[in-house]
Formats: sequence, structure tokens, C-alpha cells
Amino acid sequence: YNIVFVTSEASPYSKTGGLGDVCGSLPIALAAREHRVMVVTPRYLSGGPSDKKFAGAVDLDCRIKVSCSGGVHEVAFFHEYRAGVDWVFVDHPSFHRPGNPYGDAYGAFGDNQFRFTLLSHAACEAPLVLPLGGFTYGEKCLFLANDWHAGLVPVLLAAKYRPYGVYKDARSVVVIHNLAHQGVEPASTYNNFGLPPEWYGALGWVFPTWARTHALDTGEAVNILKGAIVTADRILTVSQGYSWEITTPEGGNGLHELLGSRKSVLNGITNGIDVDEWNPSLDEHIPSHYSLDDLSGKIECKIALQRELGLPVRPDCPLIGFVGRLDYQKGIDIILSGTPDLLQDDVQFIMLGSGEKQYEDWMRATEATFKDKFRGWVGFNVPISHRITAGCDILLMPSRFEPCGLNQLYAMRYGTIPVVHGTGGLGDTVKTFNPFADEGKGEGTGWAFKPLTRETMLDALWVAIETYRKHKSSWVGLMKRGMERDYSWDNAAVQYEQVFKWVFTDPPYVS
Ligand code: ADP
Ligand code: GLC
Repeated sequence: YNIVFVTSEASPYSKTGGLGDVCGSLPIALAAREHRVMVVTPRYLSGGPSDKKFAGAVDLDCRIKVSCSGGVHEVAFFHEYRAGVDWVFVDHPSFHRPGNPYGDAYGAFGDNQFRFTLLSHAACEAPLVLPLGGFTYGEKCLFLANDWHAGLVPVLLAAKYRPYGVYKDARSVVVIHNLAHQGVEPASTYNNFGLPPEWYGALGWVFPTWARTHALDTGEAVNILKGAIVTADRILTVSQGYSWEITTPEGGNGLHELLGSRKSVLNGITNGIDVDEWNPSLDEHIPSHYSLDDLSGKIECKIALQRELGLPVRPDCPLIGFVGRLDYQKGIDIILSGTPDLLQDDVQFIMLGSGEKQYEDWMRATEATFKDKFRGWVGFNVPISHRITAGCDILLMPSRFEPCGLNQLYAMRYGTIPVVHGTGGLGDTVKTFNPFADEGKGEGTGWAFKPLTRETMLDALWVAIETYRKHKSSWVGLMKRGMERDYSWDNAAVQYEQVFKWVFTDPPYVS
């Protein structure tokens, strides 16, 4: 197939979370299976060292004009062919500013709706106009629109192209990595999308009363992700558990009924991971390598991590880690309320993350109070995230909801035992340890506790810590079962292929 990924992040060019990881590696896995794959994503230039990442991309000298937001905007395309994939970077001044893809120290950028509207328009043009390797992708494409930033793509196919006979043979799949972000703005901004007026109904949305968080939520809004859900040919989430949860009032973020009405084309495919980047026997960021056959390097990683962060060097002391965005989604408030009790025990706890200021402040304050037991690294730092994943014994992930979650997968591959809230992808991928199964050898790869409370979290951590201290052979069994698992993208790529095959057997959902 000719596959076009549309995404606001693609690692290594840009990444704030798992979306970047997925859109950096799934395209490569699909290209390896003989598909022609293009990834369309912004050319973010922040004026800092990360701009180097785009150095390999050349200007294709192809300009298009996008009519939206009351004007005509010229957009350019840059291109790099790498690992079998056409990486296409959409260039526009609104992508050139300090900060991350969505905002800076002052908060989210005010024009994100405009920036990602441009991205979606440009992505729809790319297969038609870019002569990549001498040939355009043409109209028979499969668009993978990731999250709300790309959500206009299926709407544009239906509203802007198909009425003129273009893209009759294209299909679209919306991939939901996180339903908590939907691209919601006041209804009056509908005119910015560059869509015909009669398509208002596809994006128009009324806030459910309970979801109104501030005075501006008067009810009438436009919702880009909703537009994608009602126009895409198929809907995918990044785990099966999450695809079910989003059809329930608790997990649907106001869209559960709509998603329920499209259940026949809604399913989940669990993410893989980049097994080259995350490989304890080759990882360039960790001080000692190890593998299933020889685990000895792991303890050296632990000692080096304790030393690097200035914690007492104690190889036998249970070392717990957390890596992630400091956000309500990740259950940081639960960690915060449980930490003083957890640190009564003889354990060490390291957190790496950035995000909400109140949590960053809390991490700094906790470090000052518990100097010998707690380290809070505020920031986004990939090498440290690898060293924490390798050096810790336990990885804590009490996410309130988790569409897939990658850190628990990295942890298991590194013999670090995940203790997670059994929700979404966490529930699907972490099997709770049962010491009695398999004739006493035990089964499971970690602990998935439920429901999410401070007590259940502390309880699960306590069981894990006790197992670590008193039942070494059980612990090694847990490590090995996790390390043995197949985390590669191949499984997921095969499942994506099945969706592509199936989607082309039907006419477009909105023709
Ligand atoms: P989400 O996409 O919701 O943030 P995931 O678990 O899917 O959650 O992916 C998070 C990704 O971002 C992982 O690759 C993780 O290692 C990385 N990450 C998150 N916070 C940090 C940080 N502070 N420093 C380095 N990497 C981080
Ligand atoms: C989102 C989700 C996370 C998932 C990632 C990649 O950011 O929060 O659970 O792993 O996307 O699909």
C-alpha cells in the first residue's frame, strides 16, 4: 500500500511523548514489509540544538497555497529518505519558534488550531504533488491520521476532495493515541478550517455539561477529533483495552456515545517499541550492558545511577523509578500522596519528568526533605530515561488512564518490574505475578493493581518490594519473563496491514 502518516511528532525529529516514538518507528516497520510509506510532520525549528535533527532534509522546492484562517498561506516541503521511509516536513513560519511542538514556558501556543490545520491540508496535497523518488504517491493512498492534530485529514478527503472526484480510491484511518486531547475551540473558529459551510455538522460539538471546565465552555464548539471519528473509514486505538474504555462514560471524554456508534470499525492494536533503541545489550546511554543470559550488568547500571544522582550507593536497596509527563493522566497526584509513606520504608525512589509546575515544585521539595531516598529530575532527558529504565528494580506507573504506555514495555525489556494501574494498555501488557502458577515457578511480568488509589498503589509496591527482598528466584523469573517477550513492531505491523486490507474492501465511509 501507499501509506501516508500524518502526525504532529515523529522521533527522532520531534518527540514529547509516545506519539513521537510510535510515528518514528511504525512507519519503518511498515516500509520493511514492502509498503511505500511517507510521514508528514512539521519542520519545527526552535533556534536551539534540536534544529540539527532536520539537517538531513532538503527543500523539495515545491510550494503550495493553503486557504484557511481567512488568508492564503504558502507552505513548503522538505524531505529526507531514511530507513526506507519518505520523511516529509511541512515548512511554515508558525512552526519556527522556541518551545516544544505545542507550546513554550508561557503555555500552549494560541494558534495551534491554525498550525495543525495547515499540517492537515499540506498532508492531503503531499501525495498528489511531491515527486518522491521520481513518482508521486498518487490518489490510491491510505492515510493514517494520528490524534487531533491530524484529525482534519479524513474530513478534508470527504469534504474538499471527493466532491471533485479526487481521492475516491483513498481511505483513512484515525489513530487515537490520547482521547483527552481533541482540538476543541469555539464554534466561531469553524471558518478557519477552509471547509465548506455545510460541513459544520461534522465538527460541531456541544460540550457535555459535566465537561465544562471554565466560563468559555458555553456549549457550542468545534471538535477536530470528533470530525475525524465521524468521517474516517476505520478507528484505531493503541491497545485493545483502551478501545473498549473509550466507549464508556468514564473513558470516553464526552465522545463515548459517538465512539460506541462506530464500534463496528473501532479496534485497538498494541504498540511495539523500537527494539534497537531500547536494547539493554547495546544501549549507548547505559554504563554496562546485560542480557537474558547474563544479567550482571544490571546491578552495575543501578550502582552507576545511584552514584550519578548522588544517592547512597546500595546495590541491595530496592530502587523504584518513574519516567513520564507530569500530568493528571499519569496519576502524579497519587504518587504525591503516597510518597511520604513509601519513603518510610528502606527504599530509594527516582522520578524523571516535566510538566505541571505544581508537580515539578513538589519533586524539588521532596528531594530536599528526603535527601538519602528521593531524587526528582525535572526536565526532558532521553539518556537519563534510559539509565533509570536500566538501573531501577521497579518502574511505577499509576496512570489514571493509559492508551498504551511505552515505559512499562521499555522496563520489562530491561528486566525492571512494572507496578502499574491496570488500565488501558497497562492492563493489556502487564500480567500480575502469581507465585503459585506453573508448578510453583510463577507467572506474570509485574503487578497491575486496581482500582487506582493511594492504598492500592502502596499495597502493590509493598508486595513487589517484599518479593524483591525475600524471593530472589521469583524476582529473577519476573525479570526473565519480561525480557523474553517480543516487543518488536512486527506483530503490530501485521495487524495494521490487516486493517488496511479490510478498509479497501468497503467504499469510503463518506463518499
Ligand atoms: P505518553 O505518550 O502519554 O507521554 P508513553 O508511555 O506512551 O506516554 O510515552 C512516553 C515517552 O516519552 C517514552 O518514550 C518516555 O521515555 C518519554 N518521556 C516522557 N517523559 C520524559 C522525560 N522527562 N525525559 C525523557 N523521556 C521522557
Ligand atoms: C499517547 C498515550 C500513550 C501511548 C502513546 C503512543 O501519548 O498517552 O499511552 O503509549 O500515545 O501511542
